[in-house]
Amino acid sequence: MSEAIRAGEAEPLLRLSAVSKRYGAATALHPIDLAVTKGSFTAILGPSGCGKSTLLRLIAGFTEPSTGSIEIAGRDVTRLVPEKRPTNMVFQGYGLFPHMTVAENVGFGLTIARRSRSEIGERVAETLALVRLEELAGRPIQALSGGQQQRVALARALIMRPLILLLDEPLAALDLKLRQAMQTELRRIHKETNGTFVFVTHDQGEAFSLADNLVVMNEGRIEQIGRPQDVYIRPKTLFVSQFVGDTNILEGTRRSGVVELAAGPRFASAGPDGKVTFVLRPETVRIRPAQDLPSSPIAGITGTIEELHLLGDGARITVTAPEGHQLIVRLPNPRFGDGLAPGIRVAVDWADDALTEVGAP
Ligand SMILES: Nc1ncnc2c1ncn2[C@@H]1O[C@H](COP(=O)(O)OP(=O)(O)OP(=O)(O)O)[C@@H](O)[C@H]1O
Ligand SMILES: [Mg+2]
Repeated sequence: MSEAIRAGEAEPLLRLSAVSKRYGAATALHPIDLAVTKGSFTAILGPSGCGKSTLLRLIAGFTEPSTGSIEIAGRDVTRLVPEKRPTNMVFQGYGLFPHMTVAENVGFGLTIARRSRSEIGERVAETLALVRLEELAGRPIQALSGGQQQRVALARALIMRPLILLLDEPLAALDLKLRQAMQTELRRIHKETNGTFVFVTHDQGEAFSLADNLVVMNEGRIEQIGRPQDVYIRPKTLFVSQFVGDTNILEGTRRSGVVELAAGPRFASAGPDGKVTFVLRPETVRIRPAQDLPSSPIAGITGTIEELHLLGDGARITVTAPEGHQLIVRLPNPRFGDGLAPGIRVAVDWADDALTEVGAP
């Protein structure tokens, strides 16, 4: 295979280059670059107002960018209206036609596109089967539960066979159990259709359970892109470390390749001199009663257990060290009996690679 063909295969299905969006004086999206590969499931994760829907609307063509360009399958779609783009969007409020049946809603796009009755009939049946709603084809929308309406909205977008399916918080209105069931369904549908999905959520758990590619946004900027587990283990910024999971923040100073944390420990760490910030995931912290300490000094911190909360699947422990420094420790369930309780002296430490340096806040 030639290099050129191989390079062609690696070409992303969707590419945003320096795309930004201003509304008057306000910037909803600072210039961003984003590439999405064919067959991926991308989650856009971030707090309310950070620009997630804006980003999705720009991809779908409902909003025009202030700068930059958008390419899908090698074609510049920046100036194309939504109907001319190979994308389809599932909206948070579903946007179904309440007076039509399930089948009429699902077939709507094809009806508008003037496809034959037989083609519409076939594709509606096939798509309803895909979202497991065959039995409800003739039902009016008003006679459906929230989860069923969600499936209709999904079917209505999928029937158009978009190259990229855009989903804006599609599960936000569902209760926890239904949401989890729909997450499983979405994963199945993604696989069965060989689809490329871009999914917006502000729910970290949902992003992690669905996506193979995670985009974390904050205040109109992309803070990090990567595989969910990589983003979790190696957050690039303080924001990412705090938004994606629980975290400890350790500040310190680096001088000539040695970092001294304010909470005590010193360790070798290459980088420029000056103030530094490290994050440490609570489940990577090791903890033991101080009386079990080896006689040699340990690399970590000694302190007192301030609080111990049982969480069902584990425990969350707050340790207070001298000068008020606090550390959160998470232990899995089997380790409850380790003689840990509020008030006892403990030693905490961690493996060298558990610490991740992050950019200044
Ligand atoms: N049509 C508009 N006119 C002016 N400002 C807008 C418009 N649409 C969005 N904004 C602003 O742009 C910013 C990003 O909005 P956006 O809807 O993309 O956020 P979001 O991340 O989807 O938030 P949420 O999680 O609440 O849905 C917000 O400050 C919002 O007020
Ligand atoms: Mg939104």
